[in-house]
Amino acid sequence: MLNPGEPRPRRLRKNTAVRDLVRETAIASADLIQPLFVIDGNGAPEDISSMPGQQRLNTDDLCREGKILHELGIRAVALFPSLKSDLKSEDGAEALNPETLVLRAVRALKAAVPELQILTDIALDPYTTHGHDGVLTTDGSDVDNDRTVEILSQMAVLNAEAGADFVAPSDMMDGRVGAIRVALDLAGLSSCGIVAYAAKFNSAYYGPFRDAVGSSKAAGTTLLSKATYQLDPANARQAERELFLDESEGADILMVKPAGPYLDIIRMTREGTTLPVAAYQVSGEYAQIHAAANAGWLDLKRCRDESLLSIKRAGADLILTYFAKSWASEQNS
Ligand code: PBG
Repeated sequence: MLNPGEPRPRRLRKNTAVRDLVRETAIASADLIQPLFVIDGNGAPEDISSMPGQQRLNTDDLCREGKILHELGIRAVALFPSLKSDLKSEDGAEALNPETLVLRAVRALKAAVPELQILTDIALDPYTTHGHDGVLTTDGSDVDNDRTVEILSQMAVLNAEAGADFVAPSDMMDGRVGAIRVALDLAGLSSCGIVAYAAKFNSAYYGPFRDAVGSSKAAGTTLLSKATYQLDPANARQAERELFLDESEGADILMVKPAGPYLDIIRMTREGTTLPVAAYQVSGEYAQIHAAANAGWLDLKRCRDESLLSIKRAGADLILTYFAKSWASEQNS
């Protein structure tokens, strides 16, 4: 028996109405950004086996999907091209082709749904045969940081000219945010923003995405590892330094990636900046919830909602998530 006057915090949980009144964190469709995979041609949508419910879309289907998402209250999408292997090369030159797939997709989507904000990924991994995010040095022992930054700056300008509202450098090269900001401004594209993948960790959770865009070659199978540019999962202080640098170089939004296993980094970012904080719930986080739900071990929707809420509660203003559409479609129904 409790004594008279002793605390009874359960009073705030006694019924739905009270729980609704005191709820601290909520998600809105406007917080969620849907990543979308794009393919060339006019073929049917292609399922991605490790990402149930996600498909590679041709540009017409992409425009249709953009309209649906916009009507559901989603404000932004992030586009990722999946290229045929004959367009990939050692130096990823296709990234600078003014008619490359992602640029055509951006133009088409901007024309179809002008209000929908478009983010494009700035990195060479969809374009290189080795799957690395940049070009390699002549002996192939490293990613050539400075040459990669030059290429990424040109790529960002092409993306912004095509109509991307935000470019999102996801390569983790040193100095790329500052170089891209200057390149955009010099090209008269100062209204294009930068969502910096500021704290991007060398994570095993990117596996299904690499299947989706066909960049799995660099996942650690080659001598050169993405660990030479992506952050060590053990290092929060290095993440803090990367976040600080990207902010000082001119990022508009700071992103942490992955999200669920890095909630401490999201919280640290929220406390250390006045910029909006984005978090990317990556392909593997999505896949593991689906896999467990498929096996009958977890409840898909409850895990989806709890995972998103946790990311929001940790301090993310925006969440890139493959669950964006499914979450938003249930709010409106
Ligand atoms: C690469 C990029 C990756 C993701 C987004 N941009 C993969 C990688 O670094 O190999 C992963 C996203 C996901 O797993 O959902 N530039």
